[in-house]
Amino acid sequence: MPISGLDGFEVHPFYDDFSTPTFDAKHNLIKGGSWISTGNLAIRDSRYAFRRHFFQHAGFRYIESEEEVEIKSDYYETDELVSQYCEFQYGQKYFGVENYALSCIGLIKSHIKDVKRSNALDLGCATGRMTFELAKYFDHVTGLDFSARFIRIGTQLKESGKLNYIRQEEGQLNSYQEFKLSDFGLDQYRDKVEFYQADACNLKTLYTGCDLVFAGNLLDRLYDPKKFLKEIANRINKDGLLVLTSPYTWLEEFTEVENWIGGFRKDGEPYSTLQGLKDLLSDQFDMMEEPQDVPFVIRETSRKFQHTVAEMTVWRKK
Ligand SMILES: C[S@@+](CC[C@H](N)C(=O)[O-])C[C@H]1O[C@@H](n2cnc3c(N)ncnc32)[C@H](O)[C@@H]1O
Repeated sequence: MPISGLDGFEVHPFYDDFSTPTFDAKHNLIKGGSWISTGNLAIRDSRYAFRRHFFQHAGFRYIESEEEVEIKSDYYETDELVSQYCEFQYGQKYFGVENYALSCIGLIKSHIKDVKRSNALDLGCATGRMTFELAKYFDHVTGLDFSARFIRIGTQLKESGKLNYIRQEEGQLNSYQEFKLSDFGLDQYRDKVEFYQADACNLKTLYTGCDLVFAGNLLDRLYDPKKFLKEIANRINKDGLLVLTSPYTWLEEFTEVENWIGGFRKDGEPYSTLQGLKDLLSDQFDMMEEPQDVPFVIRETSRKFQHTVAEMTVWRKK
């Protein structure tokens, strides 16, 4: 069984890398002291972490139990991008900029009141904050993302209600962060959310009949955003909502130029992404109001931040 912190575990600031590096699912747990150890490691209640391939001075008694073994999976997340998104979606507020999911909810709240509230989709959900936030309003919310690394976090939060991650501070220096869904009043919504791996440009027919589809900062990360926009209407109920936010940061690394929605010259004239959205969506949707700015800050290290301003548009299915 992998070792992890007991309930209420806290990192001591004078020795922050003592136990936490072993909460990585690669270290197992030995319980009980040994005559070969010293001090508190020799007592009955001692707990050791060890890697599976290490030779140990360990003897054991064989005990059989009917009890199902609960294997905890709350080790410290080390994937750099995933950790960055944990901090972005659940971490501190920087430069006074509100949490992104909360800002978006604030802007769409008045529209949500008018729609049926059975099913919502959070497309490109990353670590799932918006999925949980939407569950305050909808009976069932599905968070979908291309990346299994992200989906794993949403699923862990749904199952255990908490998460630990390593945050980069400076060079090789890190800090150990942890949060609980209950810190944000979201614990009670765990049963209403689900997370799956999926491609927004090639969605299974299963994801149909939605009252709201939220695609937060997804558009300019898609390989075929035009296909996504053409097909998404088929997933949304009449009078349902499509909420798009994006900083329109088109990069060939993610999207070939011929698939960009805007941000280029057309017939010699500047053609904006907003215009492209109107041209692609207006047959099947009404734009509900003028686009709105939504600022957000992504922290890379203690001294490097990306401060971006996305544009939000809200569309109602005809
Ligand atoms: C910039 S992040 C935005 C995350 C989140 N919506 C937010 O606002 O914080 C874009 C997310 O879209 C996901 N993504 C990229 N291409 C995708 C695709 N084709 N289908 C589903 N998700 C995709 C990425 O894995 C990433 O999690």
